[in-house]
Amino acid sequence: MIAPQIIKLEEHRDEVGCIFVVETSQHIPFEVKRYYSISDVPDGADRGSHAHRRLEQLVIAAYGSFDITLDDGFERRRHRLSDPGVGLYIGPMIWRDLTNFSSGAVAVVLASRHYEESDYYRDYDEFLRDAARAGRGPLSGDG
Ligand code: TYD
Repeated sequence: MIAPQIIKLEEHRDEVGCIFVVETSQHIPFEVKRYYSISDVPDGADRGSHAHRRLEQLVIAAYGSFDITLDDGFERRRHRLSDPGVGLYIGPMIWRDLTNFSSGAVAVVLASRHYEESDYYRDYDEFLRDAARAGRGPLSGDG
């Protein structure tokens, strides 16, 4: 399992702006099958509260900022995303909570699989049970 990590995007900046690039194989360890974005999050609202069995994702704060708290059932780590030039890679078996969205924030997500509700853990206790069975998670390192 690949640990969650901040990935710096390829940057092409000139006097008329900036392009950030993500290419499969070169920057992320999965083929992109799906793009989605999250926007219009009301003040104080939270999103996420789930984990995925198999999905891999790259989450980018394309505009504004928000926090992502990752939890592998053993350890928790919080990232504040506020830079459109980086993405947070999240592999399988990581519970995530998205909080503290700034006004107008837009999250862009690249995903390795098509949408499948059966890939979700939406029940935290069920996730914890399966995570405990699998042993130390991707946030906890090997051994
Ligand atoms: P969900 O992944 O729970 O949102 P978040 O993690 O941002 O809180 O998805 C919310 C709803 O949108 C849920 O009913 C499923 C639907 N949805 C799709 O149909 N396709 C998709 O690709 C995504 C990401 C969500």
